[in-house]
Amino acid sequence: MSTFTVGYLVGSLARASINRKLALALTRLAPVELPMREVPIGDLPLYSYDYDKNYPLAGRALKEAIANVDAVLFVTPEYNRSIPGVLKNAIDWASRPYGHNSFTRKPSAVIGTSPGKIGTAVGQQHLRSILSFCNSPLMNAIEAYIQFEPGLITDEGEVTVKSTRDFLRNFMSEFHDFIARVDAAVPK
Ligand SMILES: Cc1cc2nc3c(=O)[nH]c(=O)nc-3n(C[C@H](O)[C@H](O)[C@H](O)COP(=O)(O)O)c2cc1C
Repeated sequence: MSTFTVGYLVGSLARASINRKLALALTRLAPVELPMREVPIGDLPLYSYDYDKNYPLAGRALKEAIANVDAVLFVTPEYNRSIPGVLKNAIDWASRPYGHNSFTRKPSAVIGTSPGKIGTAVGQQHLRSILSFCNSPLMNAIEAYIQFEPGLITDEGEVTVKSTRDFLRNFMSEFHDFIARVDAAVPK
């Protein structure tokens, strides 16, 4: 199997973020052929096209981080039935300046967790719509809506429920296969 590097974006800045825990768990469960590293988004100013002629360091670092990975994984909460503003801001930064969209032909996948029963499903649909516009080949299936229960994922990123652990491991394996298919169809 080929190796592909995944950059993951966590759509929460909260210190106790359950989505950050999920991201950590995914790094542990991913196949060895899918090494993962975080693409940080917390230091970005609010985007304006006034920056387009002279991107600040944080904006350039974001675009460089995405350019240096084979695929991106969004691990995000749902806020008010959409995605958090901090994540939308990062996507806007990465998608610009016009003609330099970092997501073009960059495979992606979406996952998230919430204490609610529908586990970020509505927010993920919004994100899918955004990524479609950004021309990212997006893994449609399998979908992953994780209802977070206290203790489901430890601070070390261990998933304590076997069925969830198996599901997440399979999700990452499916993502590897999806990236390989995109890579075969659209070589870099
Ligand atoms: C501004 C705000 C809006 C929220 N909206 C939703 C929502 O639409 N659906 C949902 O399931 N949970 C919602 N929640 C609850 C979050 O799922 C919960 O705070 C979760 O811990 C956020 O993920 P995080 O810990 O990774 O930041 C909301 C929380 C906040 C702070």
